[in-house]
Amino acid sequence: MSTTGVTNVETKNMTEAIDDKSKRRFLVAATTVVGAVGVGFAAVPFVMSLRPSAKTQAAGAPVEVDISKMEAGQLIIVEWRGKPVWVVRRTEKHLADLPTLNAKLSDPDSNVISQQPGYAQNPARSIKPEYLVVIGICTHLGCSPTYVKTDDPAGADIDDDWKGGFFCPCHGSKFDLAGRVYQGLPAPTNLVVPPYTYLSDTRILVGVDSSEGGVA
Ligand code: FES
Repeated sequence: MSTTGVTNVETKNMTEAIDDKSKRRFLVAATTVVGAVGVGFAAVPFVMSLRPSAKTQAAGAPVEVDISKMEAGQLIIVEWRGKPVWVVRRTEKHLADLPTLNAKLSDPDSNVISQQPGYAQNPARSIKPEYLVVIGICTHLGCSPTYVKTDDPAGADIDDDWKGGFFCPCHGSKFDLAGRVYQGLPAPTNLVVPPYTYLSDTRILVGVDSSEGGVA
């Protein structure tokens, strides 16, 4: 027994208790700092991700298409905003066939306005009848249909009177050479015509409306 009335054993226990309390305080403080640092590290990539990268900006940029060497009936594909955009050079015969299909189609007059800009709400669904410009994604569940030309033997299996167009093998939807969908099939609407304009007789710019400049 000491003169203060506290034994050596009691002193040791009190010291350990103080040490434990100090350790806990340190651990709490350390954990808080680590947490804050963790938040700091986590926050940087998140903020960074809000800024569009150069690649993202490029992906959203308009895309120029050279149509000067396209042959009659040819389809070329360009990528715009990660989507395939088809450009098809149609013949006089293709254009003459379009109205003969109207009775078989869901929206022959392109009345669903979300599917094309106003300048493509016409029988050929295009600025210039000779060139179709559409997004090559089926309006059912997003497959990419196959281009089946007028004289392709496979056309006979798609329709008794196949005039050329696009066939989606996923669930059998079919579209004519203006991207108009046939009735009674899963795809609910015509293919989408993206915004586009003519920079000249041989160059199309996809991603910019013709009302925003260019030669229409
Ligand atoms: S995705 Fe084209 S028919 Fe279903």
